[in-house]
Amino acid sequence: MNRIFSGIQPTGNLHLGNYLGAVRNWVRMQNEYECIFCMVDLHAITVWQDPAELRRSTRELAAAILASGVDPKKNTLFVQSQNPDHAQLAWIFNCVARLGWLNRMTQFKDKAGKDRENASVGLYAYPNLMSADILAYKATHVPVGEDQKQHLELARDTAQKFNNDFGVEFFPLPEPIIQGAGARVMSLRDGSKKMSKSEESDYSRINMTDDADTIALKFRKAKSDPDALPETAAGLEGRPEAANLLGIYAALSDRTRDEAIAQFAGKTFSEFKKELTDLAVAVLSPISTEMKRLLADPAQIDAILSEGAHRARAVSNPIMAEVQEIVGFLKAQ
Ligand code: AMP
Ligand code: TRP
Repeated sequence: MNRIFSGIQPTGNLHLGNYLGAVRNWVRMQNEYECIFCMVDLHAITVWQDPAELRRSTRELAAAILASGVDPKKNTLFVQSQNPDHAQLAWIFNCVARLGWLNRMTQFKDKAGKDRENASVGLYAYPNLMSADILAYKATHVPVGEDQKQHLELARDTAQKFNNDFGVEFFPLPEPIIQGAGARVMSLRDGSKKMSKSEESDYSRINMTDDADTIALKFRKAKSDPDALPETAAGLEGRPEAANLLGIYAALSDRTRDEAIAQFAGKTFSEFKKELTDLAVAVLSPISTEMKRLLADPAQIDAILSEGAHRARAVSNPIMAEVQEIVGFLKAQ
């Protein structure tokens, strides 16, 4: 049986890249598979988070996921810290995974930067917690962005080593699902950089909470070039901004990039940007309206998440009972 697990960090504003690259795919998968979607606050605190801001961001992310169409009745949607099994399995994996494996993780090198001695121990052990997230549910498939591929390989190695060390066939080896279109939305200011929460200029991204005027303004100011839009994909060579905006249009309209190219061949940027804005507003404004409605009642969001955590624990508790038996821990009476 296939079981999907995916996680997203509750840090800061959700943007169009998160929506097209992650959340929208969750919405699509919920009809085909058993899905467990987790807001990973334990991962978020591997770098400093202001407590009040973390609480706010967690509810805002929940609202965005719900408003995008993830049905909390069909799926399990919950906050990581509300199921202690993640932390316990992560500790066991800290004792299974090897130092040499973690030393190869490029995300740690990127995030820790030059001052590695000053990075938190949690940032270093981050991939083991991610393996635990997935394997506490024996998930078989994990939809992630390209950047998480290495962590998924580590999760497979850890599952395999656990099985070998203890002589069991217990954990499945989880497979990544790397999405196609929309998997990489670039900055509106620089077509060679990923759209990101952390870029300083707010004009670099479309936030899920932006209103129609802000979306229009950001696309109007988005970097472009003086030429008309090309007739063929080859004409996008060396024009990263045009490629990005056409890619966004294609992803938002559920078309291929070639179809978008054919639609706008020979048009000016200003004509194209107007249509892009109309489409983005049509897709995003119902979501941001629904987010606002949900956020007006935080107790309701908290209740949905508590129910999700309850369901998550019901799946992971029996798996963890078996893990404890395999490892040799005494059962509590
Ligand atoms: P992060 O914002 O890094 O926590 O990522 C949350 C999810 O959104 C992950 O699945 C990422 O792969 C995805 N994501 C983040 N930025 C982008 C982007 N610019 N384009 C496409 N997907 C993205
Ligand atoms: N590390 C992932 C990211 O930054 C988030 C994450 C944590 C995750 N645990 C996970 C993703 C488990 C998939 C499965 O995007």
